[in-house]
Amino acid sequence: AQAAREKSKTLADFMKEAADYYTAQLRATPKAVEYLRARAISGETAARFGLGYSPEGWHALEEVFKEKYSAPALLEAGLVNEKNGRRYDAFRDRLMFPILNPKGQVIGFGARTLKGDEQPKYLNSPETPIYHKGSELYGLFEGRDAVHEKGRAIVCEGYMDVIQLSQAGFPESVAALGTSITPEHVKRLFKLTDRVYFSFDGDGAGRKAARRALEAALPVLTDTQQACFVLLPPEHDPDSLIKAKGPEAYERELENALTLSAFMKKLLLEGKELMYAEERAKLVAEAKPWILSMQAAPVLRLALVKEIAAMARLQPEDVERQYGLASSPTP
Ligand code: GTP
Ligand code: MN
Ligand code: MN
Ligand code: MN
Ligand code: MN
Repeated sequence: AQAAREKSKTLADFMKEAADYYTAQLRATPKAVEYLRARAISGETAARFGLGYSPEGWHALEEVFKEKYSAPALLEAGLVNEKNGRRYDAFRDRLMFPILNPKGQVIGFGARTLKGDEQPKYLNSPETPIYHKGSELYGLFEGRDAVHEKGRAIVCEGYMDVIQLSQAGFPESVAALGTSITPEHVKRLFKLTDRVYFSFDGDGAGRKAARRALEAALPVLTDTQQACFVLLPPEHDPDSLIKAKGPEAYERELENALTLSAFMKKLLLEGKELMYAEERAKLVAEAKPWILSMQAAPVLRLALVKEIAAMARLQPEDVERQYGLASSPTP
């Protein structure tokens, strides 16, 4: 246990040293500053999120870490890679987004290329003993107080969405870290607030992410909590919408967000011709795993069963029985 504690301390120390270096490099690199300016990110916002820049070349971190450049922890942290026994910097010529844990320690990085067409567009730190993508949320350390004050959290897809939203007056924004939203993420947010908005990109990938977020929310949601789904126009993500139409337009999108039940019904109805009994049966079958997973919201579950029954032109009791939910008659 002592050794494990020492190791995670080393990892966190290395992350912190790298983050400070990247921040200093950003200030010293006009093209990186220009990139942020072109994306309408202010110096103040960049400082709030500790943004940085990883230089070109292959061994910039050698200057920072010196003889420690060969330390095993640096490889484990994902700051360097190794090939044929030779090390090189993992992040080169990229805008760096430090990822903080709830204590404010740097536990990982997101890294965006500054080149227009380079693939991959984003590189992300690997999972480490201090960095668990399934439970950490980008922006939560920075936005935690705002979530409390505003009584809501906004979950989006990208680092730039969080930063642009925060700057535009929505500091209660967070993002999952290049992974799907997990029930653990949702649980973490519902500990801080009773209202969570999922606000992904309007494109196909964003719509799929919204569906997965619904599935992550269902098992943890209680009857006093609200999950809402913001469905942006296909050509926008929160960052581009705010830049094109302003913060008021985004606030309107939040006001027009679908409730969880409305979003679920929309998904169930999509592409179905309810004049056919087969399609109504399919709807009932598709809804089953969702309804059964709603273990923490018994009343909302009941209300949804009634709505599903109505859509399928069945009695609620029939649907309950199909789902194995019918309460046994009291003797
Ligand atoms: P910008 O182009 O900078 O506005 O980024 P974006 O956040 O709008 O990117 P996009 O909508 O394409 O992707 C959403 C999120 O998915 C990003 O913020 C990243 O976390 C992740 N992502 C995007 N592209 C890649 C990639 O090439 N590799 C990995 N690992 N993750 C990516
Ligand atoms: Mn993990
Ligand atoms: Mn996208
Ligand atoms: Mn996007
Ligand atoms: Mn974007």
